[in-house]
Amino acid sequence: MLTTRVLRSLYSTSATISNHTLIQFHSFVCFFLFVYCCMPPFSQMFQKEVIESVMDITLSSAEGTCADVETVSIADLGCSSGRNTLSVVENVIRTVCERRREAMRQLPEFMVFLNDLPSNDFNALFSLVPEFEQKLKAEHDDGGGILVSVAGAPGSFYGRRFPSSSLHFVTSFTSLHWLSQVPAGLLNKGEPINKGNVYMSPASSPSVVTRYFEQFQEDFSMFLRSRSQELVVGGRMVLSMLGRRSHDIHKKINEFPLYEALSKSLSIFVSQKMIAEEKVDSFNFPLYTPSTQELEDQVYREGSFTIDSMKQYYHDWMFENAPNVLSKTFRAATESLICHHFGEEIIEPLFETHTRVLYERLMAGEGIGWCQITVVLCKSATR
Ligand SMILES: C[S@@+](CC[C@H](N)C(=O)[O-])C[C@H]1O[C@@H](n2cnc3c(N)ncnc32)[C@H](O)[C@@H]1O
Repeated sequence: MLTTRVLRSLYSTSATISNHTLIQFHSFVCFFLFVYCCMPPFSQMFQKEVIESVMDITLSSAEGTCADVETVSIADLGCSSGRNTLSVVENVIRTVCERRREAMRQLPEFMVFLNDLPSNDFNALFSLVPEFEQKLKAEHDDGGGILVSVAGAPGSFYGRRFPSSSLHFVTSFTSLHWLSQVPAGLLNKGEPINKGNVYMSPASSPSVVTRYFEQFQEDFSMFLRSRSQELVVGGRMVLSMLGRRSHDIHKKINEFPLYEALSKSLSIFVSQKMIAEEKVDSFNFPLYTPSTQELEDQVYREGSFTIDSMKQYYHDWMFENAPNVLSKTFRAATESLICHHFGEEIIEPLFETHTRVLYERLMAGEGIGWCQITVVLCKSATR
């Protein structure tokens, strides 16, 4: 009785609504609030799907790698500042501890390095750390507890970030397709050579593709060289990035719909004289989506790692709200680059158009999904 009185005053309902209906309504509100609070923001749903798709392989790689280590050192590269980051590390730590318990062995201590560019919101990320630590401590409060020490490691992952032979396990999700810079040479005698495209699209010319590929080779080999010095022998990396479905870049299935929709939105703005054509022609993203073969070639060429496994996934979101969710994700990742080139005023109308173009693609039966490649590398003893 008391409960229904409280509910009546909470929802300001009249006495004509039965207690049963009131309780049903309240349950619905509670369920809605629960789902809403547990859901990641739209801008992180894309990354969350990527992380969930590789969680099993990440945990099984971590188990094997960290089985005999006293102080396990983990680095997440391109960690960003959302909850996704700590959820991966949390699961890795939990799995390693479970295996130790099963083997009736002492739990290790953990050192966690969170890496991203210095512009990342490390304050927001660090504000999540106390809850993360407490959760893990609560799970392991018998037998002396668990020590997890978290540190930020700001700076580009294209270069040395950690001391020699100091890392056991490295993860990097949805980050490595970002190049260190837009490839040089996308202008020929001052003329842009990737007109009408904003990235290495299947419609780009072979010379554009070559420029992008050279930048990828330079960056990815620097990444591997740096990690090779930082990982202990037998240490592992789980790297998951956007990739191509087919090795032949000019095949239409290699289109990346989010970027194609941006090119189209910009061309609409040019036709409506909202932006100058030259401004669009000179805009390119520092993004490279490798094929599995290219990744494999680079790993063999660098020579410090063996490939445990490599997997390609295609995520295709067909639900009605997908264009909206994907456009928001895309905006979060690209807004600062677009603002820098075109100015802030364009952002709102541009992303409204972007969502609409994606929606039209979806309605026309063209995919709006993306390809992701995950590779697990093990540091070999030979180098
Ligand atoms: C889409 S977010 C992925 C975040 C997180 N890993 C996840 O899965 O939720 C990509 C992140 O990579 C970071 N990033 C891009 N290039 C980088 C570089 N060269 N070094 C370190 N971080 C980089 C960006 O700053 C951004 O935070």
